[in-house]
Amino acid sequence: MNDLMKPENYSFTATAPSNIAFIKYWGKRDAELQWPANDSLSMTLSACKTITTVKRIDGDRDVFHFAGVTVSSDVEPSHKVFRHLQFLRKELNIARALEVESRNLFPTGCGVASSASGFAALTLATVAALTGHHEWGQLSVLGLSRERLAHLARRGSGSAGRSMFGGFVHWAAGQSADAQKIEQIAPASHWQLADIVVILSDKEKHTSSTNAHQAAWGSPLFPARLAGAPSRIEAIFSDIKEHNIESLGQEIENDALEMHAVAMTGTPQVNYFLPETTKFIAWVRSERLAGNLPAWFTIDAGPNIHLICESRNVALITAKIKSTWPKSQLIIDKIGDGPTLKQGLLSESHSEVHYV
Ligand code: DP6
Repeated sequence: MNDLMKPENYSFTATAPSNIAFIKYWGKRDAELQWPANDSLSMTLSACKTITTVKRIDGDRDVFHFAGVTVSSDVEPSHKVFRHLQFLRKELNIARALEVESRNLFPTGCGVASSASGFAALTLATVAALTGHHEWGQLSVLGLSRERLAHLARRGSGSAGRSMFGGFVHWAAGQSADAQKIEQIAPASHWQLADIVVILSDKEKHTSSTNAHQAAWGSPLFPARLAGAPSRIEAIFSDIKEHNIESLGQEIENDALEMHAVAMTGTPQVNYFLPETTKFIAWVRSERLAGNLPAWFTIDAGPNIHLICESRNVALITAKIKSTWPKSQLIIDKIGDGPTLKQGLLSESHSEVHYV
């Protein structure tokens, strides 16, 4: 076997979808250990994903290619990607330089979290490149179960942990940083839900979620949010179990508004809403009350709106939005099965997500 054929020299490719939180992760008890203030619960998406290829290289500097730009760790050692590679090498106790090539299938700034899909894909492909293994079973034998991979991913970006699973995913904060749990509570096949993202602005957000998590502790509303989180998680669990879209929708909207109320009253105050955000959610509520729009909104750390609905209603809701907001740009996605990992480059083609 020549050197190039050795498994450790292969490249490995991961695809990982983004996810949309129904109960938001907002605030950290420990930023270093990525221990969240409250449990969160999300739906993993399908089309909005990141594709990342990682291979071992000679030398002692890492290289990262993204969106036509190449950076290396000797020039930018504090880059988030290089810090995560460093963390993974330490965890696995395998010291090898790596070359990473990554791309998102969805437009940046569209309101879909690229750090969730990005760090999930980076973690998976890096673990495969470092260990030379890419099958879930083999990784598990090495102590790298899917849950452990989720915990490794959340160290890069908290929400990335939930993208390690498909379907509906619960990230439990636990009583200590070590007692956190990330697990799938139902597969995608359990309930065909969709996410219609309404893009109101594609400008980069003014405050990163990492900084806004910190600001939450200064909000007088934060203790009330944390006190109410366990019962909201319980409610969402039973809504998912019973396919109760009305009740799920109410909980989702309340949780998003509560998160933004905490952000707006934090120290410093962080307001992600644009005037159009408020206008659009008022429209959603009145149309829904009138019986015309079976959709419920949620909003992440930005001004764009995610409308959650049952998949069978996507065409109706899209047409309704387009007739009232003709200039709106939409991304249509749905619940998905989670990440994939393989050896080599991707042979199958993956289509880009476009605005509707
Ligand atoms: C509003 O996972 O982006 O999307 O851990 O600092 O990288 P870091 O934060 P991040 O926060 C996500 C915040 C959110 C809610 C959520 O996805 O739960």
